Amino acid sequence: MRNESPTPSPEQEEDDFLCSVREGLRSRPKTIPPKYFYDAHGSHLFDLICTTPEYYPTRTETAILERHGAEMAEMIGISCTLIELGSGSAIKTPLILQHLDDDAAYIPIDICDSHLQQSTQRLQTMFPKLKMLPLCADYHQLPGHAFKRYASRRQVVFFPGSTIGNCTPEEAVQLLQRVAALVGPGGGLLIGVDAKKSPDVLNAAYNDAAGHTAAFNLNLLTRMQCELGAQLDADQFSHHAYYNETHGRIEMHLVSRCRQVIRLNGESFEFNAGESIHTENSYKYTAREFRQLARTAGWHLRSTWHDENELFNVHYLSQSASEPLQLAR
Ligand code: AVI
Repeated sequence: MRNESPTPSPEQEEDDFLCSVREGLRSRPKTIPPKYFYDAHGSHLFDLICTTPEYYPTRTETAILERHGAEMAEMIGISCTLIELGSGSAIKTPLILQHLDDDAAYIPIDICDSHLQQSTQRLQTMFPKLKMLPLCADYHQLPGHAFKRYASRRQVVFFPGSTIGNCTPEEAVQLLQRVAALVGPGGGLLIGVDAKKSPDVLNAAYNDAAGHTAAFNLNLLTRMQCELGAQLDADQFSHHAYYNETHGRIEMHLVSRCRQVIRLNGESFEFNAGESIHTENSYKYTAREFRQLARTAGWHLRSTWHDENELFNVHYLSQSASEPLQLAR
C-alpha cells in the first residue's frame, strides 16, 4: 500500500472552511456546503446514520451489491483500476473487490485522512494482493486525466451511496463530466443513486428517532466553534429536514430558534427566529431521470440493478457507445 496523497495541510483546510462559511453566511439564503460535515466526528455520525432503521439507502444498496456484485465486476472487466470517490469507511467496497481479479488496483479517495487510513488498512488485510493507492483529497477537485501510475489500465470509478444526490443536477452533470475525463474513452462508472419514493419514507430517513442525523447536522456548528473560533450558541439551532417535492430533494437546514448573532473572524451574522442555514440537498432520481442526466454528461447506460421495492438503483455507465445495453433487473 502506498500513499501518494496531496494531503491538504490543516492550515489550508481551515482556510477553505473559513472562506466557505463566511461566504455561505453572507449569502441569502444562508448556506454551508455539505462537504464540511465530514470531519472525523461527522464521519462517525454518518456511519451511525447508516445503521438506523429509517435510513434505508445503505442497507438497500448493500443488498443490491451483495446480490449482483459478480455481474458488476464482470462489466468492470479484468486488470482494472477501481477508483472510489468519497470512500469513507469503504464498507461496501469488498462486495465488488472480492469479484475482481488479482491484477486489479484500487484508488480510494477521501477528504478525511483518518478514515482513509483505517479503511485502506482493513481492505489491504482482506485483499493482500490488491494494489492500493489511497488519496486524501476532495473528489470535487479531481485531476482532469487518468492517474499516471495506472494510466494504461481500464479505469472505473465506483461512486456508491447516492452521494451524487448531494450535488444540484447541474453540479452532478459537471461532476459526471469530470469523471468521464478522468477514466478516459474505455472507462466506466458504477454509481448508486437513491430513487424517488413516498415522502413519508424519505422524511423518516432524514429524521431518525435516535437523533444521529440531527447530531450530524449540528456538528457543523461545533466544528465552526472549535476550528474557526466562531462565537455561537449551538443549543439555539435545531435540525430540520424535509422532502421538497417540487425539487425532488431532501433539504437539511439548521434553524435558528431565536433572534441571535454568530460572530466569526470579526464579522457578525444576524439571524431572525426561524431563519435557517441550508446545509444539504439530497436529490432523488428515477432511473429514467438519472439516465437522462448521465447522457447529458456524455455517459451511456449499460445496466441498472435495483431492489425489489425499487427504493435504490445501481447503474453501470460506460464511455463507449458500442457495448451492448443490459436491461434493468
Ligand atoms: C452522503 N449522502 C449521500 C447522504 C444523503 O443521504 O444525502 C448524507 C446524509 N445526510 C443526512 N443523512 C445522510
